[in-house]
Amino acid sequence: MKSFFLCLLVCQFLVVTAAQTLEEIIRRNDAFTILASAIDLVGWIPFDGEVTMFLPNDDALSLLDSKYLTPAYAPHLKTILAYHIVPDMILSFDALTDGYVLDMYAGTGSVLATVNETGTFFSGASFSDARVVNLERIASNGIGHEVDKFFWPSQLTWTLLDLAGIVQGFDQVLQLVAASGLEEELKEENRTILAPSDLAFASLPAQFVSQVTSDPEVRDDLLRYHILIGSLPLEAITDGMQVMTALGVPVVFTISGEGNSRQIFVSNPSYGDAISVETGNLVAKNGITHALSGVLETGPRPSVENPVAGPVNSPANDPSESSTGSSSPIDHRTVASLFSWLLFYFSFRY
Ligand SMILES: *[C@@H]1O[C@H](CO)[C@@H](O)[C@H](O)[C@H]1NC(C)=O
Ligand SMILES: *[C@@H]1O[C@H](CO)[C@@H](O)[C@H](O)[C@H]1NC(C)=O
Repeated sequence: MKSFFLCLLVCQFLVVTAAQTLEEIIRRNDAFTILASAIDLVGWIPFDGEVTMFLPNDDALSLLDSKYLTPAYAPHLKTILAYHIVPDMILSFDALTDGYVLDMYAGTGSVLATVNETGTFFSGASFSDARVVNLERIASNGIGHEVDKFFWPSQLTWTLLDLAGIVQGFDQVLQLVAASGLEEELKEENRTILAPSDLAFASLPAQFVSQVTSDPEVRDDLLRYHILIGSLPLEAITDGMQVMTALGVPVVFTISGEGNSRQIFVSNPSYGDAISVETGNLVAKNGITHALSGVLETGPRPSVENPVAGPVNSPANDPSESSTGSSSPIDHRTVASLFSWLLFYFSFRY
């Protein structure tokens, strides 16, 4: 009789547990309230099939910089969540043996398991020793392992300047930035870079390019016109939205189409063509880069000597977030897959 009741309890528990999705397990457990609110912010990670997910508990996520739990950092948060998921694989606690290498959600990097007498631990390029603190939770669509530290993806140790160097096709912009001394600006907190690709520069009249490269004032104005103060993810952009640049002259965003054909354009509200955002939401620790198919111009082209004379905002330096150069070495191999992942990811979101 006793065992019957025990079975009634345990078996029912097993059935109920297995019937829940991973998301339900997270939402119904008091240990994961921060993880649940992160999912509220960015939506459930889109994946097909079964997954293994590492579930950082509230003690772990209370150490996450709270800016990442705001809509302005939604792409960062998506990257963080994706780095906790092994797609298409159910790895029970027993399967996580010493030396096991886990390939996390496309392009976010890999994670190494260490098992010894004190427990089962996980480390990646930019975090170490996250320990499994609870037995696995079996869900209808996968398995979850509670951990006492969050997994930190390498992308979020890069500054915007690092990112521009890692992603191919931005040599022109990088050269201009290096010549202008604006590098510190790209290491500062909370910036959004509208980055014209090399192809964008190649399509400009040679005369204009030579003016930009030879005239420091034109060059610096042009660069500042591609920097927004604050983190502006694609999700936050609305049709007709004007945003102030570091130059002190606004840009205007327009949106056409919906769903998968949604396209975002940016232009100078009083001059020039609308330029499309090609690959958006590339995350770095201090902001976001949106790659542009063209160059935003601050005013009429060459010969007419008429640079925009608006006050130049030189945002105050934030000493607390100066780049120390201590970030871990960059894994160039992840970048190609980072892009495929981003494209894959956002094809679900738009
Ligand atoms: C960056 O943005 C976040 C969120 O908007 C804010 O909490 C933080 O204070 C900002 N940092 C700086 C240096 O402006
Ligand atoms: C077990 O591994 C963890 C993670 O690498 C490490 O921090 C810990 O010191 C190890 N413990 C022993 C007893 O080796």
